[in-house]
Amino acid sequence: MRRRLYQKQNCHLFFRYDCEKIWSTFEQAYVGQDPCNVSMGAYDPLIAAAPFRPACNRMMFWSKTKEVVHDFTEKRDCFLTLEDTLLGSVLDGLTWCGKQGSSETFTAGCPGWTDCSNNPVRSFWNRASAAFADVACGDVTAMLNGSITTPFSPTSIFASIEVKRFNSTMMRSLNVVLVTQESTVTNCTNASLKDLQKELDEGIKYNCKEVIQECSSNPEKPCGACW
Ligand code: APR
Repeated sequence: MRRRLYQKQNCHLFFRYDCEKIWSTFEQAYVGQDPCNVSMGAYDPLIAAAPFRPACNRMMFWSKTKEVVHDFTEKRDCFLTLEDTLLGSVLDGLTWCGKQGSSETFTAGCPGWTDCSNNPVRSFWNRASAAFADVACGDVTAMLNGSITTPFSPTSIFASIEVKRFNSTMMRSLNVVLVTQESTVTNCTNASLKDLQKELDEGIKYNCKEVIQECSSNPEKPCGACW
């Protein structure tokens, strides 16, 4: 669904990409490799072939809010997540790996997310997240989960990769939207959010707002109407 939407909204961009070249660069990262030994760096050529363009004031990061954040961005095109980009939309939800001595791409029998840390899927999302965060600019939004005790978890991609790459020369502010899904467990005074503030470069302004899910995914509300 998101893939189709991406094509519909961004078909003009698609023509500027050489899809054959992108596919072969993608394959080169993992084909013929031990599926537990594919590093983030293996995807450098792929990111170079299909770079992320800065979308100032529209970039949306998230953690533990996958469903609600995409429910929200699907209905409005004012925010852009990694999963709305070319690479992110095509690879979201997919599993792939190679095998030593083989030139094939496998979609079954691949290591799971936590089976080994250098698996092809996890390394791709780590590398793509780093590249997406590298181009974060202007006022940036992050949708975090207010129904868990640690919305800013140190082991998440958002905390361990993205926030560390936010750069104050390009970014004006980080605006946390703390979404309550089922029950409110935490608010903007949460200890982990203090850690988030400490992680940010001095020049990046920090804001936090608490919202309820009904509001964040309501298609009737225009951009920014909920917060
Ligand atoms: N098993 C399988 N998949 C996992 C696991 C796991 N144990 N942990 C994470 N993932 C994948 C899933 O696809 C999951 O929905 O990563 C996704 C995000 O995990 P979260 O912990 O919810 O969030 P986080 O690690 O912070 O990553 C989200 O990274 O994708 C980028 O830009 C995006 O800001 C976003 C951030």
